[in-house]
Amino acid sequence: MKTDFLVIGSGAAGLSFALKAAEKGHVTIVTKGEMVECNTNYAQGGICSVTYEPDTFEKHITDTLVCGAGKCDVKAVELVVRRAPELIQDLIAWGTRFNKTPDGRFELNREGGHTEHRILHYEDLTGAEIERALIQSVKQHPNITVLEHHFAVDLLTQHHLGEFVTRHTRNITCFGAYVLNEKTGEIQTMLSRFTIVATGGCGQIYSSTSNPHVATGDGIAMCHRAKAITENMEFIQFHPTTLYNPGETPNFLITEAMRGFGAILRLQNGEEFMDKYHPMKSLAPRDITARAIYREMTRRGEDYVYLDVTHKPAEAIRDHFPNIYEKCLSIGVDITKDWIPVTPAAHYSCGGVKVDLNGQSSIKRLYVLGEASCTGLHGANRLASNSLIEAVVYGDQAAKHTMERFEKVGFQEGIPDWDFEGTQHTEEMLMLIQSKREVQSIMSNYVGIVRSNLSLKRAMHRLSILFEETEELYNKTKPVRELCELRNMIAVAYLVIKQGRELQESVGCHYNTDYKR
Ligand code: FAD
Ligand code: SIN
Repeated sequence: MKTDFLVIGSGAAGLSFALKAAEKGHVTIVTKGEMVECNTNYAQGGICSVTYEPDTFEKHITDTLVCGAGKCDVKAVELVVRRAPELIQDLIAWGTRFNKTPDGRFELNREGGHTEHRILHYEDLTGAEIERALIQSVKQHPNITVLEHHFAVDLLTQHHLGEFVTRHTRNITCFGAYVLNEKTGEIQTMLSRFTIVATGGCGQIYSSTSNPHVATGDGIAMCHRAKAITENMEFIQFHPTTLYNPGETPNFLITEAMRGFGAILRLQNGEEFMDKYHPMKSLAPRDITARAIYREMTRRGEDYVYLDVTHKPAEAIRDHFPNIYEKCLSIGVDITKDWIPVTPAAHYSCGGVKVDLNGQSSIKRLYVLGEASCTGLHGANRLASNSLIEAVVYGDQAAKHTMERFEKVGFQEGIPDWDFEGTQHTEEMLMLIQSKREVQSIMSNYVGIVRSNLSLKRAMHRLSILFEETEELYNKTKPVRELCELRNMIAVAYLVIKQGRELQESVGCHYNTDYKR
């Protein structure tokens, strides 16, 4: 199969890129599972953009840099912040609704680390609204084909032409991908002029995460296998407040916008504690808040703290947070009267595949967008609600860059079809679930909010056993989605641990007790 642009992933990054690139050539979007199942669809708080005074670009830039703890790329920060208002207009043109005040101005949320109200939102369902509008626009576009239940297994490079490719090979080029049709089990060779990896994050490598089941880090793992450069993988951001509801997975998020609205963190005995940790108290940057909660919980042997919004008018609470209100009520917590039990959970990958200002990776004709990428915007800790805007800004940058180069690039000849015809061993396939849980528990136990040299070493050792077992299985088995995901999770976990061991300091989301701040 040939397509001008092969987009892998149907979240904000992939879909917004597709809508732009389709003006130039044919776009094929492949996505595992249903189109709507992605991190984008669960975003609550909103999307950052400087909108009204007294906010300014300079303030948004400073807040992003402060949160990023000295590890941001200033050019990426400037690019996203300054281009944000324009891209918000594109989202609106594609049909996205944002809440407005009675006088017709956008209603702006505030979250941790922000010194101003600058987050546009649609109720507490911003991501679902953006995803709805993008899917609708994509489905109406004559130049876009969407293939649901199509799982990208690996990227095609010179390696598939029989060349020996290492991380030091110059001019590695991407020619498309092998894609598994989940319904038929067939693996198709999809050739493209440009390949866009927009596969989202990897929260599923942890037992406790806000990310849906699709977030297994496939794109990062595929790019790593193709020898692309990855960076900042150790900076896994934990969201301070997910609903404590044992047995529920993924964890349901309680948006930080609720703290922006005035909610207060309390210990189980009712005491406020954030003033001990940061002058912004409950609205401190996310890494600091998550660590403070973790510290208080471990010190007391408790599994959760409380978020208290009961001092606010009940009607305003229901108006602002209808989805959270209903969800909490369904487990017997009336947030207008009761404190909400909350606990931190893995939430966002600040690192990923290293890209330039056009979203281009170290591999030619391979672009990586959204959470799978590392643009340098987030540094060591992402400022809340900066990721949706990053996805659409870089979607636009990449669309422009590829469209300008369109005529100069053709399709590669001579790529062989997938030729392996292994069998499936039912017993071994059952072990996949167990191995997945093992990866998750290694990462949660040893590579969580707080790490140490010893815990990272232990994690690597434990993971290496799983790696060997899984590779052995992969090499003799016909690939199925579950096996590929497990393999990808192990690869991504490896990168988090490896890059964490290389960073000999505690900074942002990477807190190593051997290098105390
Ligand atoms: P995604 O939206 O995750 O899309 C990835 C797509 O790739 C999915 O369709 C997936 O199925 C597909 N895919 C993955 N692997 C493969 C494969 N091998 N083959 C084919 N398809 C594949 N950010 C904000 O800015 N504001 C917020 O308020 C906010 N709230 C959040 C709340 C929650 C609960 C979560 C989980 C995240 C939140 N974030 C928020 C982060 C933000 O939602 C994500 O970073 C962003 O949506 C990522 O977009 P994306 O397009 O890169 O990836
Ligand atoms: C939230 O609504 O708290 C999540 C915002 C984000 O992760 O950017």
